[in-house]
Amino acid sequence: MSVPGDPARVGVLISGRGSNLQALLDAAAAYRLGGRVAVVVSNVAEAAGLERARRAGVPAIVQDHRGRSREEHDLSLLAHLQAHGVDLVCLAGYMRLLSPVLIRAYPGRVLNVHPSLLPAFPGLDAQRQAWEHGVKVSGATVHLVDEGLDTGPIVLQEAVPVLADDTPQALAARILEAEHRIYPQAVRLVLSGRLVRQGRRLLEETAP
Ligand code: GRF
Repeated sequence: MSVPGDPARVGVLISGRGSNLQALLDAAAAYRLGGRVAVVVSNVAEAAGLERARRAGVPAIVQDHRGRSREEHDLSLLAHLQAHGVDLVCLAGYMRLLSPVLIRAYPGRVLNVHPSLLPAFPGLDAQRQAWEHGVKVSGATVHLVDEGLDTGPIVLQEAVPVLADDTPQALAARILEAEHRIYPQAVRLVLSGRLVRQGRRLLEETAP
């Protein structure tokens, strides 16, 4: 853990492109994150996000999951996160379910970004699911990670209208822009310590 006065340390798990990682890196560089990205770990060696981390001077680690149990893999992830003093874990296009090993090591301190207005359209290809369903509004969600699939308490959401002439790809591109806006905001909010939990509801404490 970081010592008082030091910026909070964020660890980011990725599997691919890393555009949400980039949004977090950019926010940190502009002092809008409330912390800094201390380490990036990918389970895929070819993930483009690794290069984004390196360009930002952030340690970029490959931890292949193949041939190991979920728990074994997550224990290795945990070791990397702890070695870098990580306070908050952000999943950013990390394409694996986390085991309780990791979630319980960071209670209320693992975030994910998902490309729909949860609880609608959890799981893979959420933008296409929304488009095929014919909803008129979709969007992006940042939520705490619990042991279910995209089921944890919601930190922030942004609505994105579905247009008559949208394709799943066009909708996904507009949702991605919303993801890039709300993910750094959500990280800042969680790191501020001003979120209070009431059941499933996360409420922002207002100043006295
Ligand atoms: C994003 O749409 C995110 O919501 C989902 O996976 C995608 C990752 O994109 N979980 P990127 O790797 O951050 O560019």
